[in-house]
Amino acid sequence: MDNFTYCTPTKYVFGRGAELNAAAELKALGLGKVMVVYGGGSAVRSGLLGRVLENLDAFGIVHVELGGIEPNPTDPKVREGIDVCRREHIEGLLAVGGGSVIDTAKAIAAGVPYHGDFWDFWAGKATVEKALPVGVVLTIPAAGSEGSGNSVITLLDGLHKISLRTDYWLRPKFALLNPELTFTLPPAQTAAGIADMMAHIFERYFSPTQDVEITDRVAEGVLMTIIEEAPKVMARPDDYQARANIMWSGTLAHNGICGTGRKEDWVSHFMEHEISAVYGVTHGAGLAVMLPAFMTFMAHHAPAKGAHLARRVFGISEPDDTAAALAGITALKSFFGSLGLPLTFKELGIENPDIDLLVKKLHENKGEVIGGYYPLRVADTAAIYRLAL
Ligand code: NZQ
Ligand code: ZN
Repeated sequence: MDNFTYCTPTKYVFGRGAELNAAAELKALGLGKVMVVYGGGSAVRSGLLGRVLENLDAFGIVHVELGGIEPNPTDPKVREGIDVCRREHIEGLLAVGGGSVIDTAKAIAAGVPYHGDFWDFWAGKATVEKALPVGVVLTIPAAGSEGSGNSVITLLDGLHKISLRTDYWLRPKFALLNPELTFTLPPAQTAAGIADMMAHIFERYFSPTQDVEITDRVAEGVLMTIIEEAPKVMARPDDYQARANIMWSGTLAHNGICGTGRKEDWVSHFMEHEISAVYGVTHGAGLAVMLPAFMTFMAHHAPAKGAHLARRVFGISEPDDTAAALAGITALKSFFGSLGLPLTFKELGIENPDIDLLVKKLHENKGEVIGGYYPLRVADTAAIYRLAL
């Protein structure tokens, strides 16, 4: 096991009515004027946004709103939010939504106190050393942004989708998680969220670091819970207990606990980010396509971890590592298929993907060699994209 520092300062309030703690949590942070960020309308239609704003009014918290954040959020909304926050002397942000809304709020939070262009942080030209505090009311268990220090934004100029990672500054101060808020999710979004949270665990599980049994077991426990609970939420969207288990799994998948003490991978995410940047697909659906492709490549080049996963999580008893890893991938694909997730580019709605372009952008953004588990160059990543055809 490697040395590590683990810091997750986010306060989680979980359960029915959790969103009604928003004002009290903002007050506890000393915030009197906030920007409420939300998406394309689901929070308005469900009445959630109205309830939250009433809650803020009741506590005398002044607010301005920034709505219309779209999935795979882009820089113009961040710039608009930064301008409004500066003009209105906003002290903090409340994100009401999923990863796209939370990541936009985080980017605004980092940009407001910075004198340069906010994209400097994403471009690696500056480090976040200050940010406005961000609170979250989560409406979709998927991206795990409610517990992560990351923010994924696409720069429209060149379609660069980049994940900025911070240890501390972009971690939400609090996250309010009410499973009931997820009852309204369309099945495709529920399923994509499940693929995404599983991917967050796989990215940490495919690690070259040895002797991290505790972290492997935590990861396997969360994965097995997701596999058990997922069919229940697909069959009965208003099954509170199953929704609760899935919601908390999504947070644990990405708040760092599944990666402690080891090097992480993140290739499937890097490769998917290029797909969602260029083709605008749902992140989790793109991952359902990329994960089996990545794992298939690994089954033939570095099968140990895939075999371990197959035996521990999917109950595969094959003694040979490559055969075990491949059997695990078959089980994973069958699970994804049962949730209605796509498994190929074609099923994702991309008939003829421009693999040369995806590979070029991937290595432009991430460097010549990528991957924490197994080093991959241009020919390898092109082969992985082709495995997804
Ligand atoms: O915009 P509205 O109308 O709210 O609809 C949203 C959106 O269309 C809808 N939705 C959300 N909650 C709902 C609901 N519909 C009905 N009922 C509800 N309760 O779901 C759609 C997707 O929302 P989005 O916020 O895009 O989903 P998700 O949480 O999957 O976020 C995806 C984004 O997060 C990034 C992804 O790349 C993508 O840009 N990621 C962020 C990470 C992070 N910050 O740590 C890590 C992830 O790996 C990921 O890359
Ligand atoms: Zn993800």
